[in-house]
Amino acid sequence: MQSVSKTPSIRIIEKVIDETPTVRTFVISDANLADVLPGQFAMVWIPGVNELPMSVMVIPEKGKAAFTVRKRGVSSTALYDLKAGDQIGVRGPYGNAFDIKDGKIALVGGGTGLVPLLRLAKFAKPTNDVTILMGSKSKDEVFFEDAANQILQNNKHQVIACTEDGSYGEKGFVTDVLAKLAQTTKFDAIYTCGPEIMMHKVVQLANSKGIFVQASLERMMKCGIGICGSCCMDEVMVCHDGTVFDGEFLANSKEFGHTHRAKSGILENY
Ligand SMILES: Cc1cc2nc3c(=O)[nH]c(=O)nc-3n(C[C@H](O)[C@H](O)[C@H](O)COP(=O)(O)OP(=O)(O)OC[C@H]3O[C@@H](n4cnc5c(N)ncnc54)[C@H](O)[C@@H]3O)c2cc1C
Ligand code: FES
Repeated sequence: MQSVSKTPSIRIIEKVIDETPTVRTFVISDANLADVLPGQFAMVWIPGVNELPMSVMVIPEKGKAAFTVRKRGVSSTALYDLKAGDQIGVRGPYGNAFDIKDGKIALVGGGTGLVPLLRLAKFAKPTNDVTILMGSKSKDEVFFEDAANQILQNNKHQVIACTEDGSYGEKGFVTDVLAKLAQTTKFDAIYTCGPEIMMHKVVQLANSKGIFVQASLERMMKCGIGICGSCCMDEVMVCHDGTVFDGEFLANSKEFGHTHRAKSGILENY
């Protein structure tokens, strides 16, 4: 049975991989996090700085886990700047998991939202025909193409990189490429993680075609365990009741794709 660590365990960063000019992967040894379910996350403590929720990246070696971090604000930049040999604290895993359906499935990710989707790909059933759509701004920011092909080597699959400026792969937003693809391909399920505006469009598209859809939400989180309320959306706590929600629930949400809570707790528009 999966064990959940409620206090941070200290881990040494064993390896740092540069994915793009703004994204790095940090590898640690942690047997518990190595086997998290697709959609689950950990809280990562950056000593003296902050604690951030992070999806857990798939690493081929047994007993290893990783975090793939994009530098944004102060905390993620402090994590991004850590080196091999530095220490972090980890607790978790927390949250629920994607419900993987049979048949043709599409995984639609933007940026580091691909992390839980690659774990989903690892858990794909042998009969799943998997299409991964990877959204990024430009060629420089495309990552995980090789990792996705590697993970899905035993499945029928296609990996489609989409860049907003057309410098690599398909030109345009990942949502536009999905909409075009969905005109000719009948997907049995769609899974998404990334910026909420992107996920909102994916969910709307899937709901309009009657396709089962789930999104993993990245809301402001402080405790990660359902106490502080900073991740609350409508009547649910995203950390505790999610992070994965069905399209049916999201279609009835007043906040999904419209408003989110800032660090202070106030509601802001997207
Ligand atoms: C369940 C979960 C899993 C996550 N997994 C990952 C992961 O695998 N890799 C990763 O890099 N980050 C992940 N995040 C986001 C991460 O926890 C931080 O929110 C993010 O790194 C920014 O933190 P910051 O304090 O540096 O930036 P802040 O100071 O909070 O913000 C700086 C800028 O970044 C923007 N920003 C903040 N959070 C996000 C966000 N979630 N998406 C897009 N823009 C944002 C803000 O609007 C602001 O413009 C995850 C979040 C959740 C809730
Ligand atoms: S992050 Fe505290 S309740 Fe979800």
